Amino acid sequence: MKIPLVDLKANYLSIKSEIDTAIQSVIDRTAFVGGPELKSFENNWAEKCNAKYCAGLANGTSSLEVILRALNIGLGDEVICPSHTFAATAEAILMVGAKPIFAEALDNTALIDPGSVAKLINENTKAVIIVDLYGQPADYYAIKKIVEDKNITVIQDAAQSHLGKYKGRTVGSYADVTSFSFYPGKNLGAFGDAGAIVTNNEELFKVMKMISDHGRTSKYEHQIPGGNLRMDNLQAAILDVKQKYLPDWTVARRNAIKKYRERLSDYVRFIEEDKDNEAVYHLAVIRTEKRDELLKFLNDNGVGAGIHYPIPLHLQPVFEYLGYKKGDFPITEKIASEIISLPMFPEITDEQINYICEKVIAFFK
Ligand SMILES: Cc1ncc(COP(=O)(O)O)c(C=O)c1O
Repeated sequence: MKIPLVDLKANYLSIKSEIDTAIQSVIDRTAFVGGPELKSFENNWAEKCNAKYCAGLANGTSSLEVILRALNIGLGDEVICPSHTFAATAEAILMVGAKPIFAEALDNTALIDPGSVAKLINENTKAVIIVDLYGQPADYYAIKKIVEDKNITVIQDAAQSHLGKYKGRTVGSYADVTSFSFYPGKNLGAFGDAGAIVTNNEELFKVMKMISDHGRTSKYEHQIPGGNLRMDNLQAAILDVKQKYLPDWTVARRNAIKKYRERLSDYVRFIEEDKDNEAVYHLAVIRTEKRDELLKFLNDNGVGAGIHYPIPLHLQPVFEYLGYKKGDFPITEKIASEIISLPMFPEITDEQINYICEKVIAFFK
């Protein structure tokens, strides 16, 4: 049996006629940029997140960059983020000219360690980017408490946690500002690149929207430095169809992880879910000291397992200039050496989960 890490085709086929109609309608009207679908998606996504404002962006990396630019963060400023995340989180800091400062992870959840963040705050710190890795919301209030009374914004990178719940609140509804990616493999995925920013802060929203659209106030009046970082209307039309199904797809992901846990907890460690959270399982991550051997065994047996992410950011060549070295973040480094992401997508069948679990068990036996 061959099982991909993510089955985008199965997802498309489950709602094909509705998607095809939405795409054709945009083409028929040649409404490619800034059409009614974008407005509709922005409204629906803000509502789903229980937030006041949503701006559709070109992708999740640009969303983070636009947020930092809108906050006037640049040269001489420091922004703290986890080392255990996808490179985009820190790339955005780099792209605005600020300095990424990496923080350690918690061993049980693999999320940013608030205790580590507390030690890194200084007068140059302008923001902390928390990342809801694998779909579990990071501890926003713990970080917020640390930056209390300081002029430091807490940005939530929710590229992997669409509709996640943190202490009963929906991702996007509680942070100063939240960034989403709709990269095709994400829980809510476009048919190309797309992203969004969600916030309750009207002033910040207006500036972010302007930055993403050439800094303009009207068609040919350009007020502030900006660029072309908008979500296009075809992506918005597709996302607007798909967002309706996301709650059901999230339930399917949570059911799948339950089955993995039931079968595999005696053999491997799982990333723990905080009792106050509802993770949305963008990825199904297990841990074992025999990682490389198990990964090879699974791949050889047709299971499209992967690693997210094998090299922590503090050890990436692009961030070498920051002066970090191996051993600086022992928990992050251990996590990166032990993790495997098992196939996870809403349409995954019991037969597929059984096959994957049988292979993992066969490896350990
Ligand atoms: C944690 C995280 N942040 C940011 C991004 C960047 O999003 P995009 O690929 O849409 O630019 C991604 C996904 O790729 C991600 O997983």
